[in-house]
Amino acid sequence: MRPLSLTGVALFASCAVAQTYQRLGGCPDLGCIFPPDQADFLPGQYFDIRLEVHSPVNGSEARVGEPDPNFKFTISKKGKRAVPATKFFDIKEPELERWNFSWYEDLFAEDADKASLVNVTSKAYRRVALYEPGEYEATLHYYGKEKTVANWLVRDIPKKRRAKNVILFVGDGMTTTMITAARLLAHRSINGKYMTKMALDKFPVLGHQMTHSLDTFITDSANSATALYSGHKTVVNALNVYVDSSEDPFDDPKFETISEIMRRRHPGAGVGIVSTAFLADATPAALAAHTSNRGEYDHVIGAYLNGTLSDFDWTKWDGPDVLFGAGAENFLTSEDAPRDYYKLFAEKGYSVSLNKTALQAAPNDRRALGVFQISNLLTWLDRNVYQNNLKNQANHPDGSGRDAEDLPGLKDMTLKAIDVLNARHGKEGFFLMAEAASIDKQMHVLDYDRSLGELLELDDTVRATIEKLEALGELEDTLIVVTADHGHGFDVTGSVDTEYLEAHEDDRDKRRAIGNYEKSGKSQYTVGGANALRYSEGAHFPARWDPRYAIHAGTVAFPDHRENYKVHKEGARTPAVPAGSSDNYVANYKDAVTGFLVNGTLAPDQAQGVHSLTDVPVYARGPCQELFGGTYNSIDIFYHMAECLGLADTQGDHHHGNNGHH
Ligand SMILES: *[C@@H]1O[C@H](CO)[C@@H](O)[C@H](O)[C@H]1NC(C)=O
Ligand SMILES: *[C@@H]1O[C@H](CO)[C@@H](O)[C@H](O)[C@H]1NC(C)=O
Ligand SMILES: *[C@@H]1O[C@H](CO)[C@@H](O)[C@H](O)[C@H]1NC(C)=O
Ligand SMILES: *[C@@H]1O[C@H](CO)[C@@H](O)[C@H](O)[C@H]1NC(C)=O
Ligand SMILES: *[C@@H]1O[C@H](CO)[C@@H](O)[C@H](O)[C@H]1NC(C)=O
Ligand SMILES: *[C@@H]1O[C@H](CO)[C@@H](O)[C@H](O)[C@H]1NC(C)=O
Ligand SMILES: [Zn+2]
Repeated sequence: MRPLSLTGVALFASCAVAQTYQRLGGCPDLGCIFPPDQADFLPGQYFDIRLEVHSPVNGSEARVGEPDPNFKFTISKKGKRAVPATKFFDIKEPELERWNFSWYEDLFAEDADKASLVNVTSKAYRRVALYEPGEYEATLHYYGKEKTVANWLVRDIPKKRRAKNVILFVGDGMTTTMITAARLLAHRSINGKYMTKMALDKFPVLGHQMTHSLDTFITDSANSATALYSGHKTVVNALNVYVDSSEDPFDDPKFETISEIMRRRHPGAGVGIVSTAFLADATPAALAAHTSNRGEYDHVIGAYLNGTLSDFDWTKWDGPDVLFGAGAENFLTSEDAPRDYYKLFAEKGYSVSLNKTALQAAPNDRRALGVFQISNLLTWLDRNVYQNNLKNQANHPDGSGRDAEDLPGLKDMTLKAIDVLNARHGKEGFFLMAEAASIDKQMHVLDYDRSLGELLELDDTVRATIEKLEALGELEDTLIVVTADHGHGFDVTGSVDTEYLEAHEDDRDKRRAIGNYEKSGKSQYTVGGANALRYSEGAHFPARWDPRYAIHAGTVAFPDHRENYKVHKEGARTPAVPAGSSDNYVANYKDAVTGFLVNGTLAPDQAQGVHSLTDVPVYARGPCQELFGGTYNSIDIFYHMAECLGLADTQGDHHHGNNGHH
């Protein structure tokens, strides 16, 4: 057990308790240390330190005046003498920086537009590392007698490498309830017993991870991807940095990610990134970018390309070997980003594929970029069942305004990524992340059918990946982890007679169509329909998506919307539309004309559903699988993968000057 830092609580009991409004997440009082209290580190992991001293004019704190320019910062290994950080890391004293920022204390202050101004003094120590496992105490001394203490833990992690490859599947937003629902839709059961299992059901180890962020109990995908890939929790919108109070989105204290450490510790190892999202989106971006703002899309694509953080003398990991996904808009020349990234990637030696045929024909011995359309990849349901929805999209990845044709899915991209990584890095091994992004994206718009289709595609991809690794002779050397970054409050509570619902006019009469308990019946998705014969081994998807008795599905928090429980054959749902102003969303009548109105439970400015609190499942198979059983924190996924890949560096044997003390 590590001690809790009580300093802040004792000195400033009246502040920092605001919940939705915080001066600065992770900063307990007027002195801030990043990495903050309770941060964990992989031995030898590079990170920056940011110190801030605050001096608010108005706020609960009484202190007025200049922030302390003479603060001191010391570090000690537990049981040893505290020494100045400059001596501890053998680095020069950084320059003092000054800025100011303002914030609202609460909703009343925001309504009254009464911001509190804070003057700041700050210093940043760049690219340091702690090599020796154990507990450390970092102390910021300021305003004479005041201090902020951060307790840090360098985890004692075995250094022996146990897996050649790690494949991490991220079902964005995926919960156990969604997996249960997907199974119900795609697997036939007789008298309460399933005749077939999902690929996930066959994994030997199942765990639970807690997804909370640094300063809020609900996370976003930037924050949670950061935790999964770096072992550090941060705040909403941040990618691989702790967020300081300065305006610059690129000066925040960084920490090293699994892609960077993998290349540094195992020169010649491969890194692959696959996503069904636009590639500048948070879950893929967190393997390359370091910024407080996930919306810095050009920085994200630049970070994939450059694979370096030239500022602050960070390591050069040289970018991924494989980058497959969507979001062509961030690769094409535009006003915001005058670079033609396709050309730049090609110049760096990447093959560039803009469709599935080209993807499959791309040489396996070269780095590979594949960008298949503008925006997020159209969903499995649209690509495979309601293909009319592929038309009139003007989403060709060449930016010509034509429709993208010949789209690959998650499975095509993942299997090709494995071919390339294995061909190029068969000896040194690889780390691959493959994201099923639209489980989350379709949950947000309450389109449960599309979301579950994406989940089934993920399951089919996992199944095909295991087969592929077996064929390549790599299965026993590969750790496969399938997890999520957060959940949505989704579940199924029965079934709905969609014909009865449609046949009635009155909203309350329509609701009599909902059957619970004994009236929920059996899954109607597995019988009849065009795909009825798909029930052997191999891919499992529903035989039909539009049965009369549909699942009665929903989430715990939603905007105003209408519900008829029918699959949306004309494309993804838009549950709510703005009425009058963009902060007032009401039900979209056209979204479910035959349905009934459901009044929202979210703030009226929310157009979509939101992430929820639930722990999410972790499936593991392969070397180190036993590490993933039980209930643990999101960051433990990183530490377990890093352990399995032998990434811990307790010697500083790859250092370039800035060493931790030993
Ligand atoms: C902040 O700094 C400005 C000068 O830049 C000064 O006028 C103001 O009083 C300061 N406020 C606090 C709270 O330090
Ligand atoms: C600070 O708060 C005091 C008391 O609430 C108020 O009179 C004053 O105008 C505030 N100053 C600023 C700069 O907001
Ligand atoms: C805050 O900083 C800006 C420059 O970043 C400066 O122009 C402004 O005067 C400062 N405000 C105060 C109250 O010190
Ligand atoms: C990548 O390198 C180019 C050329 O050196 C530079 O202009 C760009 O800012 C860099 N991008 C990032 C994200 O570092
Ligand atoms: C796919 O890409 C290849 C290579 O650029 C191109 O020759 C082919 O015409 C494309 N196919 C379609 C259907 O767009
Ligand atoms: C929805 O809310 C409105 C008030 O905003 C109310 O008049 C209406 O009865 C509610 N409808 C349902 C179905 O709850
Ligand atoms: Zn989301």
